[in-house]
Amino acid sequence: MLAQIRTLSFRNIKQADITPAQGINLIIGENGSGKTSLLEAIYMLAMGRSFRSRSLKNVVNHDEQRLTVFARSLDQTPIGLQYDLATGLQIRLNNAPLKRLSDLATHLPLQFIPANCHQFFELGPKYRRRMVDWGVFHVEHQFNFHWQSYKKALQQRNAAIKKLKPIKEIQLWDKYLVEHGLVINAMRERYLQTLLEYFLPLFHQLCPELNDYQFNLRYLRGWNKDSDFATYLIAHIERDRALGYTRSGAHAADWSLRVNGADPYEMLSRGQQKLFFLALSMAQILILAEKKQLTSTVLLIDDLSSELDWHHQNTVINTLRSLPVQCFISSTNEELTGLIDQKKEKMFHVKHGVIFDREGDAINGDSDIVE
Ligand SMILES: Nc1ncnc2c1ncn2[C@@H]1O[C@H](COP(=O)(O)OP(=O)(O)OP(=O)(O)O)[C@@H](O)[C@H]1O
Ligand SMILES: [Mg+2]
Repeated sequence: MLAQIRTLSFRNIKQADITPAQGINLIIGENGSGKTSLLEAIYMLAMGRSFRSRSLKNVVNHDEQRLTVFARSLDQTPIGLQYDLATGLQIRLNNAPLKRLSDLATHLPLQFIPANCHQFFELGPKYRRRMVDWGVFHVEHQFNFHWQSYKKALQQRNAAIKKLKPIKEIQLWDKYLVEHGLVINAMRERYLQTLLEYFLPLFHQLCPELNDYQFNLRYLRGWNKDSDFATYLIAHIERDRALGYTRSGAHAADWSLRVNGADPYEMLSRGQQKLFFLALSMAQILILAEKKQLTSTVLLIDDLSSELDWHHQNTVINTLRSLPVQCFISSTNEELTGLIDQKKEKMFHVKHGVIFDREGDAINGDSDIVE
């Protein structure tokens, strides 16, 4: 949970210094005002990268040489991130250089809901794997170890395939893929069952009109369900050599929740698909809170109003109020400000890269924010 956020030269936001509420924070502004940029700055504090630019060069304000994002969590831990066009990226957590990106994610469990999240079940499997792995990472202490070990073995196996090494040398890596892949698979399967349990009541709350629909988990582990992983790798070695990479394994897993036996994008309207994705993200918040006592997660929702009518936007905000999460919700819809409880919640207006609090004061910080 973040107690203070300061940014400098971040896209069109020259300077900002905000003290968010612990629950709901609404970010309102016209197209191009800087709402997504503010969410992007917060996202970078948890992920060390942007969700829309591969190169951080494009994120630095056009007139400047470097961007800075600084935040303090509720327990006062400082996180600082600076990207300089000449010297690159530097991240500091608790006043020391960051060792691993996973330390940042552990410190600040954060989910981002993009404006086009209703397309989640139409996009490639990597987006769905990313979502489930985010949850497994936070719930299963050993997941990151197994995933990193698996990735290393996969890279080595693929390099051996590319270099046209003899089959025996390629297969040296199989035992590592199998050892870690099976653990990853078991963790994902277990987590997805839990996700479905937590998802259902939340989706019913957001979308009661679909209460009698049936939801079933469809999980594809990444290799044929009728054979064990080791045998499958051996049987498909010629295919992998022809392709030039290892096709099957935990890195190729996918999942979906079938709605009355069909894919969500075939059965649900766009608004219902968005509510579906929102309920999945909310379920992850509850799972982290109940299984790991992590009550300080952050949720970024970009453009809540797209695809959702007034009634459903209201229901989403009400449901979020009942969850242990700090939310930053952007929208172009001024009317949403009427839903905010001004005593406990906060509202920020963004105009041409300047952020105003509800009293209308510009809340740009001073420029000396690197700690
Ligand atoms: N590196 C940069 N330097 C300065 N301005 C930038 C930079 N990158 C993007 N911009 C501009 O920043 C502005 C804010 O973009 P942003 O995506 O945050 O707007 P938004 O408020 O989310 O708008 P929308 O409602 O359309 O989604 C845009 O005008 C964009 O062109
Ligand atoms: Mg935007």
